[in-house]
Amino acid sequence: MLVLGIETTCDETAASVVRRDADGKGTILSNVVLSQAAQHAAYGGVVPEIAARAHVEILDHVIAAAMVEAGLSFRWIDGVAAAAGPGLIGGVIVGLTTAKAIAMVAEKPLIAVNHLEAHALTPRLTHGTPFPYCLFLASGGHTQIIAVRGVGDYVRLGTTIDDAIGEAYDKTAKLLGLPYPGGPDVERRAERGRAARFSLPRPMLGRAEPDFSLSGLKTALRLEAERIAPLSETDVCDLCAAFQAAVVDIVVDRVKTGLARFAERFGRPTALVAAGGVASNKAVRAGLQRVADAAGVPMIAPPPALCTDNGAIIAWAGAERLALGLTDDLEVSPRARWPLEQLSPPPAPGGP
Ligand code: KG4
Ligand code: ZN
Repeated sequence: MLVLGIETTCDETAASVVRRDADGKGTILSNVVLSQAAQHAAYGGVVPEIAARAHVEILDHVIAAAMVEAGLSFRWIDGVAAAAGPGLIGGVIVGLTTAKAIAMVAEKPLIAVNHLEAHALTPRLTHGTPFPYCLFLASGGHTQIIAVRGVGDYVRLGTTIDDAIGEAYDKTAKLLGLPYPGGPDVERRAERGRAARFSLPRPMLGRAEPDFSLSGLKTALRLEAERIAPLSETDVCDLCAAFQAAVVDIVVDRVKTGLARFAERFGRPTALVAAGGVASNKAVRAGLQRVADAAGVPMIAPPPALCTDNGAIIAWAGAERLALGLTDDLEVSPRARWPLEQLSPPPAPGGP
């Protein structure tokens, strides 16, 4: 089964062709990702209008490149998948409309993929991870702990009540004069800094529900930075280190609690899976590894290129749905908001 996947929910224009064999094994035949980061850098964050316009201009070329790289024409594929949300609505409209046009002209089924579901199912593409597993998804827009019980069957165990972790990294970077997206730069400086120099808060630590809060940490960091301004390079590195140490402590405590809630409700997970851009952070990964070791479950993190946004994860989620006969009609709407719990699991065999 060959599926074309299209991703345009944020600032990456991406397309990919993925093959899913009958035994559930996945192979990426092409994966073209064009980042708009440079076009948004001057604004310290993604500007929705700029993003939508850039997707319109480049998506056709990105899809063509993905098809050429896979050595296929549209007639050979079995389905067209696009991220139909959640995300910046202008970009989502561009991707979904393009997918509809291809599906209509090539007479192939359309699969409207939830972007979060695509992150949630990625470990099955990269590692063949069986259900059920516990997902920690941390990106620029999302911070969630999710019980992944099957295709379309997700239970959110925890989420952030304010900023996403990636957003906190990006805002920290902006505050310290570092470029967007901030994660990689803050991480590099954190490695050279002295975390103990500042004592920053760890909001929500020890709470029974595995939720997150980042805005208090961000504010505390800003106050410290203002107190010692002007900042030297050493100051910036120390602030980055203090920020990242707090983030890792928060992640470790919250995910540990999330795994405990998972076990109470659904039994033992097959794995702790980390996804989203923040999961490419080495300190965060090491923290998650400690949590998984303590719980006696394997920690799985897809390679960084598949943790961040790309077309292969959309194509794969599309292939998993197509294999179950879950397709969408051409009237399906793009959605800015689309919580994972609103997806309906496939009907049980023999059921209604
Ligand atoms: O998953 P992603 O590519 O896009 C979405 O937001 O959906 O995640 C991007 C986010 C940005 O906020 C970026 O700063 C953060 O992930 N990020 C990192 C690192 N690399 C990317 N955060 C911390 N450490 C990193 N190494
Ligand atoms: Zn994403």
